[in-house]
Amino acid sequence: KPLVFSGVQPTGNLHLGNYLGAIRKFVALQESNDCIYCVVDLHSITAQLVHEDLIGQIRSIAAAFIASGIDPEKHIVFNQSAVPQHAELAWVFNCVARIGWMNRMTQFKDKAGKDRENASLGLLAYPSLMAADILVYRATHVPVGDDQKQHLELARDIAMKFNLDFKEKIRATGTGVDIVVGEEPVHAYFPMVEPMIEGPAPRVMSLRDGTKKMSKSDPSDLSRINLMDDAEAISKKIRKAKTDPDALPSEAEGLKGRPEADNLVGIYAALADTSKANVLAQFGGQQFSAFKPALIDLAVSVLSPVTTEMRRLMDDTAHIDAILRKGGERARARAEKTMAEVADIIGFLR
Ligand code: TYM
Repeated sequence: KPLVFSGVQPTGNLHLGNYLGAIRKFVALQESNDCIYCVVDLHSITAQLVHEDLIGQIRSIAAAFIASGIDPEKHIVFNQSAVPQHAELAWVFNCVARIGWMNRMTQFKDKAGKDRENASLGLLAYPSLMAADILVYRATHVPVGDDQKQHLELARDIAMKFNLDFKEKIRATGTGVDIVVGEEPVHAYFPMVEPMIEGPAPRVMSLRDGTKKMSKSDPSDLSRINLMDDAEAISKKIRKAKTDPDALPSEAEGLKGRPEADNLVGIYAALADTSKANVLAQFGGQQFSAFKPALIDLAVSVLSPVTTEMRRLMDDTAHIDAILRKGGERARARAEKTMAEVADIIGFLR
């Protein structure tokens, strides 16, 4: 059974991008895989150190996972800081990765802005912790939105360099397996992670500007649909969503150069679990004045039950905390095993 791992930061409100790009995929994957889903609280202090209500934010992400349909009995739901091995392996990876690799990350460049010297060291090392999140479980499949692609490529680079640098030690400790990377046979301790980015909405765009990613930090609330929005807010935001004056095309080709149309069709397809081609087969030739009400109905019918259940769960903090605590214990048991082997491979005295 492949092992799936993914994480979501407890910062700001979850939006439709997080839901379609990540959480909805988490739910689909649990049918035929072992899954570990993590609220990455250690990551949330990299860009901003002090948070008003971090515990509340952590609980709300866990509530969103469960309200969306993740089964915390069959799979593992926990918060990152409950398993110290994430930070421990991240330290090792800080020594494997090169500064140049980190400097090239577009997310670091975006988040650090002009005053890069003044960004936290944690923000620079962010991808190293992310690689550790996945590899401390030796997970292989990672469902994420398109914006995380570069980080996952870096995770592969880190795994590969560790495997090559410690080749002899991995053999001597009998902890590795033979894998093939490209054409190359490698005796590997860490597997190569497979990003799972496909689907009709790998990058949900702002409702106000089809060339900008939908994001928690956009000052305009009209730019995004929040998971906590009620039917009225969803309806208003879709009605006001930017479009062009043309009718919808009847084939996906026709969405090229029409970012807003492409985005709304992608959102519809992802909410309906179908393809953009299928959506256009149904709506091709129709105006947005006809498509938008259908999209509103669909969005409300999919999101409302999640929102309602999320609110209910967030009132029951004891229940959420118990799920996270139990998930943390199960995750820690697995992570401890990996870290013991890593210590042997490196040659630390245990
Ligand atoms: P975060 O918390 O920013 O976002 C959580 C997930 O939502 C996806 N996402 C989107 N997908 C489509 N369209 C959008 N507009 C959009 N905005 C966000 C993200 O791609 C992500 O999958 N670094 C990660 C968290 C992380 C992680 C990990 C992920 C930490 N360790 C290990 C996977 C594996 C992040 O900041 O996600």
